[in-house]
Amino acid sequence: MNEEIDPILVGETDDIEIGSVESFEHEDITYAVYHLEPGYFCTQGICNCEDRAPLSESEIEGEELECVGCGNTYSIVSGDCISDPELDALKIYEISEEDGNLYLNI
Ligand code: FES
Repeated sequence: MNEEIDPILVGETDDIEIGSVESFEHEDITYAVYHLEPGYFCTQGICNCEDRAPLSESEIEGEELECVGCGNTYSIVSGDCISDPELDALKIYEISEEDGNLYLNI
């Protein structure tokens, strides 16, 4: 049986400027929350490869991020690695908006 988990309050929609990313922690797990033109997105907070760079320090270009660690580029929407499709995709989490607040659904 699936356990229902209540959405987790991340913050207010105004907290993240369009074209930027913020780090968010919940129960010792780091997430990266992005505000892009089409809306809000969330990925795992730490990059997959051995440099383990914080993705909240990435450069954002449209719907892609460039990791500050090794410089690989990923789709923020799908999580796929664009610069090296052999690399594992980033985990994607659902973000929802309600009454000016952002919620993480894990
Ligand atoms: S730390 Fe290597 S691509 Fe992000």
